Amino acid sequence: MDIGFMTFSKLAFGHWEGQPLYALAELGVPELLASGPKTCAALAEQLECPEDALERLLDSAVALKILSFCNGEYKNEECAQRFMTTATGETLIHWIKIMSRWKSPWIELSTAIRNGETTDDQAKWLGKDPEFMRDFILGMHEFASRSSAQFAQALNDVPVTRFIDVGGGAGTYTIALCKARAETRATILDLASVLRITEETVAKHGLSKQIDTRAIDYRVDEFGEYADAILFSNVLHQESASNCRSMLDRAKSALRQGGALVIQGYFLNDDRRSPHFTTLHNLSALALWDGGRSWTLRDMQELILEAGFSEPEVKTRDSSGLSIIVARKH
Ligand SMILES: C[S@@+](CC[C@H](N)C(=O)[O-])C[C@H]1O[C@@H](n2cnc3c(N)ncnc32)[C@H](O)[C@@H]1O
Repeated sequence: MDIGFMTFSKLAFGHWEGQPLYALAELGVPELLASGPKTCAALAEQLECPEDALERLLDSAVALKILSFCNGEYKNEECAQRFMTTATGETLIHWIKIMSRWKSPWIELSTAIRNGETTDDQAKWLGKDPEFMRDFILGMHEFASRSSAQFAQALNDVPVTRFIDVGGGAGTYTIALCKARAETRATILDLASVLRITEETVAKHGLSKQIDTRAIDYRVDEFGEYADAILFSNVLHQESASNCRSMLDRAKSALRQGGALVIQGYFLNDDRRSPHFTTLHNLSALALWDGGRSWTLRDMQELILEAGFSEPEVKTRDSSGLSIIVARKH
């Protein structure tokens, strides 16, 4: 089916739409408006920027329905107040900022395709640039928090008394699981630089007694032993096939007999051309991660079987491709 000129031309303008959002987040405009409406002149003075330039940004934000304009003053629309300020527990401000920071590798996509590898340095968001890393880890946490309760529910019938979360980031899914299952004792494994943020998040949720952390490089280090369940959430798309094989082998060693391997991530349908979001996720894995890719469900299930696990079952799958697969060590 032909998409026609209007839809086609929107694709070419596509990246314009996000730019005002990124600029508002980077300048901190919604935070400045959190306590009430302000004129452009007042905002320009606080931000020390030319009024004319700021006015163009504010007016485009009104057109995008992020801000509103009334009696000469700009005001946060509800979405800006909820998602772009720290006034509520629903903020997505770090997530918007990490999306903005990742504009640069996306702009280089054709080069990434020519060379078959990322054009950026993932070390920047894995610790080399601490502010970049904070936006990455807290951004993932803010976004993931929206589906973490459903994650815990999907594991209702999986024993999780001893739980390991590999590449757990801020601990979003382990926190949700520990809140739902008082019996759970969990260890979050991640890079040493990241774990400082993990510990802050865990403490904020009052779960320091249920959750501990251990610094590892998941490409080479062991994950532990006698676990009931081990989780890879949104990590395998970052790695080459050989790293994934090695990680699954070490996951097997870390589980007790009958223990569960839990893999969460965005998976392509077997045709590789759907769901729409995961086809883009697959490109972002190429643009951002050294050797990364989005797997199809079938290829991931084969990888799991090759690693010696049995019964890989797709527990949940949404229309964007976000899925949870559970397999057993027998
Ligand atoms: C996309 S985030 C996913 C975080 C979390 N599991 C989730 O689903 O929201 C990827 C995580 O992998 C971690 N990571 C990346 N490379 C790693 C490595 N070599 N060793 C350990 N952790 C690593 C990152 O620090 C980050 O926390």
